[in-house]
Amino acid sequence: MANLVRCGLVALAAVSLQGCSDDSPSPRPPETTSVTLRNGVKMPMLAAGTWQYNDSVAEETLIAAVHAGFVHIDTAYDYHNQVGVGRGIQKSGKPRDSLFITSKVPGCGLQNTTAKTVEQCKTETDDKIALDLQQLNLSYLDMVLVHFPPCPGDDGSAESPSECSCYGPKNGCSHPQSCDMIKAQWSVLTDAYKKKQIRAIGVSNYCSACLECLTGSEVFPMINQVQLHVGMGSDPEGFRTFAEKHEIKLQAYSPFGSGGHGSEQILKGNLTTSIGKAHGKSAAQVALKWIVSHNVSVATKSSNPAHLKANADIFDFTLSDTEMDSLDKATFASEDTPSFLCTDSNPSASQVQLKSEMSVVV
Ligand SMILES: NC(=O)c1ccc[n+]([C@@H]2O[C@H](COP(=O)([O-])OP(=O)(O)OC[C@H]3O[C@@H](n4cnc5c(N)ncnc54)[C@H](OP(=O)(O)O)[C@@H]3O)[C@@H](O)[C@H]2O)c1
Repeated sequence: MANLVRCGLVALAAVSLQGCSDDSPSPRPPETTSVTLRNGVKMPMLAAGTWQYNDSVAEETLIAAVHAGFVHIDTAYDYHNQVGVGRGIQKSGKPRDSLFITSKVPGCGLQNTTAKTVEQCKTETDDKIALDLQQLNLSYLDMVLVHFPPCPGDDGSAESPSECSCYGPKNGCSHPQSCDMIKAQWSVLTDAYKKKQIRAIGVSNYCSACLECLTGSEVFPMINQVQLHVGMGSDPEGFRTFAEKHEIKLQAYSPFGSGGHGSEQILKGNLTTSIGKAHGKSAAQVALKWIVSHNVSVATKSSNPAHLKANADIFDFTLSDTEMDSLDKATFASEDTPSFLCTDSNPSASQVQLKSEMSVVV
């Protein structure tokens, strides 16, 4: 539908229809500070991340992020800092309903989850949502994501996704039991959404093969959070095209690269630095701006108040088409992939059919 509208508008403007097929990402949309999800919920474009922080750093960072202007916080059950995040939310001074809190539950069978059967997967996921809410000291979450696809071939003992057998070969969602696990876990999120414990639901690190398992679901994932940063290309493995085609909002993590530490090429490289100079902005601001200019929301992270302030201040300038083009074409991080557990070789061939969205639950 979105594609039809987009292509129709392009046709009306008598512009070439090239690039408007089902298999290409859309031209640059008008910029906004929030994205509207399929169920009508508005999600702020920029989120302050909390990965790799202990409780006290998470608490301090969250308060600093809110003071810098962030109203969207990105956390996860398996960051093991939910108590600190919860304290930060309480101490931020903001009413709960002015903040958008995203959390994640681990994919079944990984990270000390022991689920080997679909029933265990459901029970564990239900427990994790309840524990997450309890540790965060919240009565509801704005968004919950399945953090990564399950890896059912494993025995459940992998403490980190990087220790599971799907990690190296990136063959998540190819196991015969994958779809059963994915559906089971998703049904628990769907139930929590219908009970209004969660305002919106989505996934993370899911390739098209994982999403196809949810074909015909009562509620289809609203966002897919994946790695995306300058140097990977604007549509790595076709993830952006696939998401647009199926009305899933793509969200970027690790926008500065190098797994949570920021890469030299992004934060200090010639490309981002020179573009930044032309706008009186830093390389980091250009890297974030490039992502949101593609209408992709982004979770970024900093424990430095000056960096947080800068990262929130990216809506007062516009990258030119030439600048966007050169950032799109940068390939210095072409080894980085959107998901660490699976690969999309031919996503556009996939024909996921969405069932019409259930009535809005907000
Ligand atoms: N779904 C998933 O599997 C997944 C995976 C990874 C991350 N995430 C989420 O995405 C969030 C962000 O990704 P990330 O943690 O990889 O971090 P990131 O935002 O890509 O990079 C953070 C690094 O960049 C530095 N930095 C931030 N702003 C800067 C600025 N303006 N100037 C210079 N340096 C700056 C930070 O240092 P300072 O602290 O010194 O500023 C830190 O070293 C995570 O925290 C997490 O919430 C999700």
